[in-house]
Amino acid sequence: MDYSFDINSLDDLYQEVILDHYQRPRNKGVLTNPDISSKGFNPFCGDEIILSIKLDSNGKTKCILFDGQGCSISQASASMLTELLSNKNLDELKSISYSFRAMMRGESLSSGEMSLIEGLEVLEGVRKFPIRIKCALLAWAALEDGIEEYSVKVLKKEP
Ligand code: FES
Repeated sequence: MDYSFDINSLDDLYQEVILDHYQRPRNKGVLTNPDISSKGFNPFCGDEIILSIKLDSNGKTKCILFDGQGCSISQASASMLTELLSNKNLDELKSISYSFRAMMRGESLSSGEMSLIEGLEVLEGVRKFPIRIKCALLAWAALEDGIEEYSVKVLKKEP
């Protein structure tokens, strides 16, 4: 599998943002007793991302951390995810994740959808390297799995 990727092929400003998140990742770590915990694993390279999320009493994200190792794209995308998804409810998380996924698939988004994923457009250039789209989506796949698992767990508890 060819994972070669030349970050210089991206717009200068976008490169800068991605490298900044890669070199100074935001919200890195693992929460103890998270409400949502999930792992994203890329079987082609062995890289993984662990997301842990604590919700507040209103069901909104109070704290989101990520951990793991991987390429600049996967780490930068995870770091951006933790910043963008703070103080959001689960439906909002899903909408943001689906919109990001749609952008990475090259679908055209409404202005409302674009505003949901404001800031993530720096990753759009990665689409030029189809094999690396998985890198950009690694943390988001973990997020979607984690929400799904949490929803099943919570529904089970309801009478
Ligand atoms: Fe492994 Fe990007 S090369 S996640």
